[in-house]
Parts: sequence; structure tokens; C-alpha cells
Amino acid sequence: MDMLNIALPKGRLGEKVYSMFEAAGFECPAIKQENRKLTFENDSLGIRFFWVKPSDVSIYVERGAADIGVAGKDILLEYKPDVYELLDLDMGKCKVAVAAPKDFRDNPKRALKVATKFGNIAKAHYASVGREIDIIHLNGSIELAPILGLSDVIVDIVETGRTLRENGLEVIEDIVRISARLVANKSSYKFKTDMIDRIIEGLAKEVALASKTKKEQI
Ligand code: PRP
Repeated sequence: MDMLNIALPKGRLGEKVYSMFEAAGFECPAIKQENRKLTFENDSLGIRFFWVKPSDVSIYVERGAADIGVAGKDILLEYKPDVYELLDLDMGKCKVAVAAPKDFRDNPKRALKVATKFGNIAKAHYASVGREIDIIHLNGSIELAPILGLSDVIVDIVETGRTLRENGLEVIEDIVRISARLVANKSSYKFKTDMIDRIIEGLAKEVALASKTKKEQI
């Protein structure tokens, strides 16, 4: 049987995403064993999961190494991979925002120095408000940049806001809300439609159930 390859984002979000697949009936118990293996198969269901660095999921899916996968909307907006976005999983929720030191005052006479790993999202945002910027591309610990005078502001992911708070920064503008999305390779979707549709349907039910449970708890 032709296996369906599923790329999951390695880490805490990926574990939650896997639990959702499991609850929807697409389980692969071997994945829960503590080891460093990266691929796991359930031959009877015809599925193979593998752990991928979260920002790489859309590369695997776009090129067809994975038929489907779960990627953050931030990555989809930043890299615009040529994939189908099938379902909002309503998890991994956060936002991309502009943050700055508490005493920051913008000087409109010069380009704003923006440190970020989301260069395209930042460019699109500042183009929409007509502000000239100078992008400083970093790969992590973005919050350091304004503290050390490398940049004026940062454009980064804010989840709880704790990293900003503990580094004396604050959000000055929200750019876009983010959550995890199920994506598919375009030709895989054409040739494995039935299987992928069953997964969408199963996960959509779990998303609805989780949202209902959340509402009942409020
Ligand atoms: C992300 C982001 C912030 C932090 C926000 O970093 O870049 O640093 O999470 O979360 P909080 O609002 O809950 O504090 P990540 O852990 O992905 O590491 P990074 O430094 O490599 O970006």
C-alpha cells in the first residue's frame, strides 16, 4: 500500500498535534516511545509520521517528501509555500507583533531598524503603513537586538508575552494572529484525496470538540 507521509513539527506543539491525530483514529503508538527516532509507521493504517523542525514542515510538504503536515501560519505567511491550506487546528495560538523597549520613541526622519526572522511579514506590514525600514535578519533570541542597540524594534512571535516582559520590552503593534494549520502537497491531494479527506474530517471533528470543551469550561 502507498503510505501517506505526515510531517509533524518537532516539540511541544507537535506532541499536541499528534494527540489530535490519535484521537481522530490515526494513531501510531510507537511515536510515544522515548527515543531519537524521527519516523514512525502504522502499516495497517498506511500512515507514516515524521518529526521535522517546525519551520521546515512546509518545505517537506511543498516538495512532496511529505503528503501533508502541520505548519504555523507564521511560516506560511513568511515563505508562501505552494501548498494547500486545509484546516485551522486552533492550537499553537500566538501572534506576530512589533515590540520595543518601554522608552522607545520612533524617529520618522530615519529608517526604522527592525530585527526579525520574519523579514517578509515585517516588510509587508511596514509597506502597508508607508514606513521605511532596515531589516536585520536574525535566527533566534530576537529580543536581544533592541536591548543591545542592534535594532529599534523587533517583529516576533508573542505567545504569553513573558519573554518580552522579562527583557523590558512591550508590544507596540499587533500584526497578525497565528495558529497551526494542516497543509497538503498539491499533487498528493489530487492522488490521495480519499485518505487526506478522511484525515481533514477526523481532525475537524476534534477541533470542534476541543473548542466546545473550552467554551464549557469558561
Ligand atoms: C519564541 C519567540 C519568543 C517567544 C515568545 O521563541 O521568538 O522569543 O517564543 O513566547 P512568550 O511570549 O510565551 O514568551 P522560540 O522559543 O521559538 O525561540 P527563538 O529564540 O529561537 O525564536
